[in-house]
Amino acid sequence: MLKIENLVKKYGDFTALNNVSLTIDEGVTGILGANGAGKSTLLNLITDNIKRTSGSILYNERDILELGSGYRKLLGYTPQLQGMYEDFTAGQFLRYIGSLKGMKHSVVKKETTELLSLVGLKEYASTKLGGFSGGMRQRVLLAAAMLDNPKILILDEPTAGLDPEERIRLRNHIAELAKDRVVIITTHIVSDIESIADKVVLLKKGEIIRYASPKELKQEVDKVTGKRNLLEDVYLYYSEKRS
Ligand SMILES: Nc1ncnc2c1ncn2[C@@H]1O[C@H](COP(=O)(O)OP(=O)(O)OP(=O)(O)O)[C@@H](O)[C@H]1O
Ligand SMILES: [Mg+2]
Repeated sequence: MLKIENLVKKYGDFTALNNVSLTIDEGVTGILGANGAGKSTLLNLITDNIKRTSGSILYNERDILELGSGYRKLLGYTPQLQGMYEDFTAGQFLRYIGSLKGMKHSVVKKETTELLSLVGLKEYASTKLGGFSGGMRQRVLLAAAMLDNPKILILDEPTAGLDPEERIRLRNHIAELAKDRVVIITTHIVSDIESIADKVVLLKKGEIIRYASPKELKQEVDKVTGKRNLLEDVYLYYSEKRS
């Protein structure tokens, strides 16, 4: 589906991503890495928001730069730390995003109702975003990213700052949405993706350390440490190694 080959991103002399190669299929791919590991940079390259230094990103065998707007139409994206229009109601916000995506008014209206309902905000369609909690905002952003039924859904730290209950709620919504599409999610909170990720990318200082299923990662670290590990332990094991 998405095939990333020898991807390099430099900001001036600084190499933020170094020779990243990765094939991403349908389902949930979680990207774990410390602050500055290059997670957002990788997502910004996949969404064609920034220019790569070298390498390729192929969607169904064709480079996304060649596919252009046709590719961007397949994307749903929630950037890290996204601003919202506090005076908009949830419904207005979704309709606004829908119009930016070039969707037909009638379709936007229908999908807005469906998606707000899907993320448990049906009753809040006419409530202004200014009064929403962090978790409600993230659910609105998730609904907005889902407009026009994207084939690739990209979520940059959607659970940041949420309380455990809201994190679980959002995680369940994301798991539901992952059927028949590529979902890429970054997080610091390992438990957020442990149960929903089909594959996990461990990113460190711009390089991929490991890319495998949570089960495989746990098993390989279990073998070395002689105990049963959580994905959190796996993450710590690899973060501390080779540092
Ligand atoms: N526009 C930029 N110009 C210069 N350096 C940048 C720029 N954007 C990112 N960087 C650097 O590239 C590295 C990777 O940044 P990136 O935002 O991708 O990390 P991240 O893994 O998303 O971190 P976080 O967990 O804090 O969101 C960091 O060292 C960062 O300082
Ligand atoms: Mg980031």
